[in-house]
Amino acid sequence: MRKLLLQLDSSRLPSVFDQVVAYDAGADVVMSYGGITESDVRDLIHGCIFTRGPKDLHNTAVWIGGSNMSAGEQLLAIAQDSLFDPFRVSLMLDSNGSNTTAVAAVVKIEQTVGDVRGKRAVIIAGTGPVGQRAAGLLAMGGATVVITSRKPEQGERARRSIGERFDVQVESVAMADASHAAEVLEGAEILLNSGPAGVLMVPRAAWANRPGLLVAVDLNAVPPLGIEGVEVNDAGVQREGMTVFGAFGVGNFKTRLHKQCVSRLFQRNDLVLDAETIADVARELVKEKK
Ligand SMILES: NC(=O)c1ccc[n+]([C@@H]2O[C@H](COP(=O)([O-])OP(=O)(O)OC[C@H]3O[C@@H](n4cnc5c(N)ncnc54)[C@H](OP(=O)(O)O)[C@@H]3O)[C@@H](O)[C@H]2O)c1
Repeated sequence: MRKLLLQLDSSRLPSVFDQVVAYDAGADVVMSYGGITESDVRDLIHGCIFTRGPKDLHNTAVWIGGSNMSAGEQLLAIAQDSLFDPFRVSLMLDSNGSNTTAVAAVVKIEQTVGDVRGKRAVIIAGTGPVGQRAAGLLAMGGATVVITSRKPEQGERARRSIGERFDVQVESVAMADASHAAEVLEGAEILLNSGPAGVLMVPRAAWANRPGLLVAVDLNAVPPLGIEGVEVNDAGVQREGMTVFGAFGVGNFKTRLHKQCVSRLFQRNDLVLDAETIADVARELVKEKK
């Protein structure tokens, strides 16, 4: 029986990136819909669950993506509400790669520093989808998490939304521009840059050889890179007195994780892959490799 992936994308054009990875991960057909809103979801999900018998439903799965993470969260919630026993299909949310990217970064951090409990993690520009997911996961692991934003109100909104989504407390501080990076890194043991592509957020002088800082991770792959002095291909190398990862150093694991998650959607019919469960898959992959 063919493996069908229903792609529900909140953006007008369904992501080609997500389609390519889905085929590479073993989907036989990707049924793509763009511009999906909340009112569309129920009928599309019912189209999946009433066509194949319950014992074959693991051959159908649903992927939720798009550039807007909060829209994706809403679509996932409605998709879950549209399912009932025994008519279930597995679901995964990864709006703009935010879950898989954040998880890959957090797992690389865990591999480097061990237990994050009690460690101070500063997430630069932590108000975007990737930063918020990473903040939630690190805080769930017991880290003391600080997110930065250029605008205090934006930082406060993100702080609250991370708290509600992950049931954790994080702190938000304003960082108007890169010239304030050294101040916000005071006491940091973990540095993660989740700022936008092509913006230098942390100058070398702010992080290099900073006492106490153990790891620096930059997710921006577009020059100028986000942490000055961390190279895009760095994958756990030593620079300036600490372990560093660049965007491709994290991205290779992210792609492996993304594919593994899609293939797992077809192993059963009741899996829900969101940040925490994707993190479980990532940690299993790390264990398998050891
Ligand atoms: N490897 C992968 O597969 C992959 C996948 C997804 C994302 N990424 C990368 O991960 C990073 C984070 O992604 P994202 O989608 O979460 O980021 P994003 O939403 O584009 O940006 C994150 C935050 O950066 C701040 N910001 C925006 N423009 C800025 C500017 N010109 N100067 C300074 N700050 C600015 C904003 O925060 P405030 O307004 O609150 O300051 C925004 O909330 C990006 O570099 C992205 O390319 C990689």
